[in-house]
Amino acid sequence: MCGIVGYIGHKPALPILIEGLKKLEYRGYDSAGVAVIQSGTARVEKSQGRLANLEGKVNGDFSDGVIGIGHTRWATHGRPSDTNSHPHSDCTGKFVVIHNGIIENYVQLKEVLQQHGHVFKSQTDTEVIPHLVESYYKGDLVDAVRHVAKMLRGAYALAVMCQDEPDKIVAVKEASPLVIGLGEGENFLASDIPAILKHTRRVIALEEGQMAVLTRDSVTLTTVDGEPLTPKIIDVNWDPGQAERGGYAHFMLKEIHEQPQAIRDTLIGRISDDNTQVILPEMGLPAEKARTLRKLAIVACGTASHAGFVGRYLIEKLAGIPVEWDIASEYRYRDPMVDSDTLFVAISQSGETADTLAAMREAKRKGAKVLAITNVVGSSIAREADWVLYTWAGPEIAVASTKAYTTQLITVTLLALWLGQQNGRLAATDAKEIITSLRDLYTQAAYVLEHMEEPIKEVAAQIARKEDVFFIGRNLDYAVALEGQLKLKEISYIHAEAYAAGELKHGTLALITRGVPVIALNTQPELAEKTISNIQEVRARDAYVIGIAVEGDDHTKHHCDEVFYLPRCHKLLAPVLAVLPLQMLAYYAATARGADVDKPRNLAKSVTVE
Ligand code: F6R
Repeated sequence: MCGIVGYIGHKPALPILIEGLKKLEYRGYDSAGVAVIQSGTARVEKSQGRLANLEGKVNGDFSDGVIGIGHTRWATHGRPSDTNSHPHSDCTGKFVVIHNGIIENYVQLKEVLQQHGHVFKSQTDTEVIPHLVESYYKGDLVDAVRHVAKMLRGAYALAVMCQDEPDKIVAVKEASPLVIGLGEGENFLASDIPAILKHTRRVIALEEGQMAVLTRDSVTLTTVDGEPLTPKIIDVNWDPGQAERGGYAHFMLKEIHEQPQAIRDTLIGRISDDNTQVILPEMGLPAEKARTLRKLAIVACGTASHAGFVGRYLIEKLAGIPVEWDIASEYRYRDPMVDSDTLFVAISQSGETADTLAAMREAKRKGAKVLAITNVVGSSIAREADWVLYTWAGPEIAVASTKAYTTQLITVTLLALWLGQQNGRLAATDAKEIITSLRDLYTQAAYVLEHMEEPIKEVAAQIARKEDVFFIGRNLDYAVALEGQLKLKEISYIHAEAYAAGELKHGTLALITRGVPVIALNTQPELAEKTISNIQEVRARDAYVIGIAVEGDDHTKHHCDEVFYLPRCHKLLAPVLAVLPLQMLAYYAATARGADVDKPRNLAKSVTVE
């Protein structure tokens, strides 16, 4: 999983490439490289480590070239090193290639190439590509790349340049994301829109097996077999400022604070003015299908799976339809029982997560219809699904997901309400109560962020000194506890675990000793007393208990060392507010420990390998 960027036009390519790579670093940041064709020569510079290392290395040699490609890497084949960094070249240095994905048959291809005398410099799968292009080049780069693409198995978004044809970049996509940006006298390519958003909002999202040839003045789209295609141009309405840090210390903090707006955007046009109806015409799922559904299967990874976990509770409660919930990486291997009466719901911020995509394909193969909940228009998951509901969170750059999660919660709530209204299981009074509360949620989220940030910072300073933290809750609170623990551990590296509050006594209670922090979520009125009993169990072992409750609950505070009160909302919507202090807790604990919040170790934003 890596980020790629390319430019051809009339301006110096290097600054545009570096700037694009900065936006793509979330996709991988163990090394970076660029290639620029200048004075008839393909010049390559690459460096292990952060992009800043590469910036320190590139010099005046590169300053005039107006065509170039760049890459930021997250290692799969071959450890991070200067040599394994992209771009990779052939034996002559004429051809340069950047690649995001995995070439599954590279071992066989490499053997044959070596038998024909090709000398490899790196341990990467990618390096076979420039050598293959070298072998098949007969004076036409497009022909050679077309030939090579047909030989590759696996996932790839790749861009190829040849120093003898400095007027074009050839790009191919198969199972890894690739967008083309259209400019005036210049064109761009990138793994993701934010990398080129500053330059253009007109993009083409390449589909599987498509090939694009970029020149200064044109973009030609064909299949890999050479069949001409008419590009679908999307006008992206993201504000370029949204993809910048906007004065915040980290993207994560900025994105935490963008949540009220993201919640609002995700609700716009989807609830009736009188708060009685959920309206989702853009989804396209026929009402008849909703009425006859016998089962839903919600499948996702990481944070998105935690949103799906909430979705399971809500859909079963509001629409009375049984819901299975699975982690995508496990789904295919349990021979899931899905058929045409099942609605498979894939949740994915990026819309590119390989495990989710594979699970979705398996469900489709078995006859299920797929609804995608995703944040990225034109992403693979959106394209392959039968129906799509977008979360309008805007670009999420920080590796740790925040605003995508809350907008996923909003979206699964809308879906649950809509299904319940279509199949008649949801009483009109209940629907109105929930929708009315939904409407208030973004102002309440803003209130939580404004009033809790400082006190949470103080608690975070305590947590930052600990090595283990436990999160407990029941029902929806357990679902939020799962997300709270993931946020904390992925960015602060503090060991954290979430337990259904009633489960702790079945083993894990043995780990609770003096001063161990336990974050206790207690937002569900009918379970409050039971959760308080579980809080007492950990307090009896001298745990340091931080409660999250809802205004009006006078009990929780008597059983906690600290307590944070959320504004009153419908109990089914409490997860949206309850996660906010947990995100801030994770953020401030991580910064107190000096962690690199936006780029946690070993992780990358978009996980396009299984
Ligand atoms: C954690 C996080 C990940 C993602 C997961 C799925 O903060 O962001 O757990 O949620 O990798 O990614 P998407 O939603 O893009 O499929």
